[in-house]
Amino acid sequence: MKHKKGLYIQMFSIHGLLRAENMELGQDADTGGQIKYVVELCKTLSDSDQIRKIDLFTRLIKDKSYSDDYAQPIEQVNEKFRIVRIQCGGKKYIRKELLWPHLDEFVDRTIIYIRNEKEIPDIVHGHYPDAGHVAMELGSFFGVPLVYTGHSLGRSKRARLLDDGYDLNEMNRKLKIDHRIDTEEHILKSADRVITSTHQEIEVQYGLYNNQALSTYTVIPPGIGIIRFYPYYHDTFSSSREKEEALFAKSSVVQELNRFFTHPDKPLILVLCRPDKRKNIQGLVKAYGEDAELQAMANLAIFAGIRKDISDKEETERDVLTQMLLLMDKYNLYGKMAIPKQHDFEHEVPELYRVAAEKRGVFVNPALTEPFGLTLLEALACGLPIVSTDDGGPRDIVRNCQTGTLVDPTNTVEMASAIKDIIVHPNKWNQFSKNGILNTRKFYSWVSHAKSYCDEMNAVCRQYEKSLITAVEPKQSIGKLLAKLDYMLITDIDNTLLGGNPEDLHALTDLLEKNEGKIGFGVATGRIFESALEILKTNGIRIPDIIISGVGSRISYGDSLGHDKGWETHISKNWAPDLIVSRMEEIDFVRPQEANVQGDYKLSYIMTPGKDKLASIHNMLTKNRFQYTLIYSQDKFLDILPYRASKGKAIRYLSYKWGIPLKNFLVCGDSGNDAEMLKGEPLGVVVGNYSPELETLRFAKQIYFAEKTYAGGIMEGIRHYQFIR
Ligand code: GLC
Ligand code: MG
Repeated sequence: MKHKKGLYIQMFSIHGLLRAENMELGQDADTGGQIKYVVELCKTLSDSDQIRKIDLFTRLIKDKSYSDDYAQPIEQVNEKFRIVRIQCGGKKYIRKELLWPHLDEFVDRTIIYIRNEKEIPDIVHGHYPDAGHVAMELGSFFGVPLVYTGHSLGRSKRARLLDDGYDLNEMNRKLKIDHRIDTEEHILKSADRVITSTHQEIEVQYGLYNNQALSTYTVIPPGIGIIRFYPYYHDTFSSSREKEEALFAKSSVVQELNRFFTHPDKPLILVLCRPDKRKNIQGLVKAYGEDAELQAMANLAIFAGIRKDISDKEETERDVLTQMLLLMDKYNLYGKMAIPKQHDFEHEVPELYRVAAEKRGVFVNPALTEPFGLTLLEALACGLPIVSTDDGGPRDIVRNCQTGTLVDPTNTVEMASAIKDIIVHPNKWNQFSKNGILNTRKFYSWVSHAKSYCDEMNAVCRQYEKSLITAVEPKQSIGKLLAKLDYMLITDIDNTLLGGNPEDLHALTDLLEKNEGKIGFGVATGRIFESALEILKTNGIRIPDIIISGVGSRISYGDSLGHDKGWETHISKNWAPDLIVSRMEEIDFVRPQEANVQGDYKLSYIMTPGKDKLASIHNMLTKNRFQYTLIYSQDKFLDILPYRASKGKAIRYLSYKWGIPLKNFLVCGDSGNDAEMLKGEPLGVVVGNYSPELETLRFAKQIYFAEKTYAGGIMEGIRHYQFIR
């Protein structure tokens, strides 16, 4: 339940290169409209009474090639809105497809952040599937609703690239496309709401997903910065400084264009987009190049991102830019076509639209597909008519704004005549210009977006709370619990918690029940997860908050949330189970345990005790350069785990992730596979019925050897440390 007024929203846009001012759009393929969308949305939301607080989480980047701004952990944008930068996968900038393996690290560090801030959000909202994954994990940990905006979708991209003749293996290697699609399917299953910009996105794009029907969708068109994109005939600035800046930007735009044109006063055909093959700059240059009449009546200006040296660009961008230059040469468009290298987004882009409008030109979006079309809206807001691809976003825009012409982007003749039609008919131009100016303000301002957004978010919260109340098995929110717990009792199951007399066990479970919400309850066992759940159930023990199973090779929260992916990613490093299994086959004094006790990160064998046996296994594993953890217990069990896994390391990870100090863990065990978790900072308890291999811990610091056995020993340990007062 919310007590404070207004919503606290956590937004996620992981990839980075995101800051409140001077956004570097078009740096590379990953710094397009999404960054701007997210920042504008947050800024506008922070002005709304319905919002209490808004944090935008993104990746921290400390890299000599990029601005220091991206290395600031906190950017306080205004009283309510902060950008929070979290490190994952090192500090260097990396493209978004390489971020997948590091997302769980992002989740873990965000949990620590949330715990330190002592405030759990009302909503988590992920943008793009990487952030969708992060928000999904956090949403399920903390029991808050998940909202998702895809921005672009993997299945559409895969289909398009396959069409273009790309190889699927190559796509998976470079773009991790199938992994992305799996993640998207997952998100659709969990999201409480999916926000789209257009109707087409829901039907055509999400329509490709198996789980499309499992989510609820809301169309909220993106807003545009009306203040910056005022009409070409206005002069809205109150302060003379702003006015000077705008005038300066305008004069540099004009100067830049004039370098290219023989007749600078002709109407201007303007294009503004990233140098992406899909944007089909080529198509427009062809349309222009093949139409002498059009060349006679108008100039063409192409702003395709920022570049210093084309040869330094990524291959795909280099191709597009090179093609553009070749076509310019082929059609001999010198003196008629401008291809500026640089522009300043903040100030120059709005001026560009206005300069083109003053020259009674046209803005063209020739893209093959366009889910969004933010630049179209900006152009319209400035009063510049548009000719656009007949697809997704532009269809909604032309319908709502009643302006512009839609064309088939592959038909160059159609494109050229649509442009001419607007330029040569002044009445049409005027009508389009006016409709654009008025209707963008009506349908596409961020303020109207923010209003619909807040209404939706309040509805999402209400539905979510209702679903909690009516659920047969209430969803537990382990995150909310763990974020406020300060103490944790973790016990081994077999021969520690279980095996003794029922009265002792009862006394212990009673005590834990009385202290629920203050002291967390966890088990750490050699059993695999399913078998641990089963034995607890048979013995009438409540499902623990935390289950460390498979000798520390898996961490789970209760029985419903699935396992901790951060831990899995962490331990999976350098784990080579197949190779280890085949080497172990060569050792004649071990035999594998049954198949149903083996885990993805746990290889278990039976071995009778014997001199030098353990040492020779260590030797063999080391000689083969395996990284591993080897644990022997009860004179028969031999477990091989990843080198980062063990019950003890799992406890240390939990302490780090959830911010519960190690010294506040009480840890109980009886045998060899417990040894490592009993040592060190936590309060260790060895029950009276322990196996001989624990004798070596007798004089270790902070390990209490109880007289009593099993659960009775645990109770004795609790009293000894005065763990529960
Ligand atoms: C449990 C597991 C077994 C493991 C042993 C020691 O008995 O079922 O596979 O070897 O614990 O960790
Ligand atoms: Mg045991």
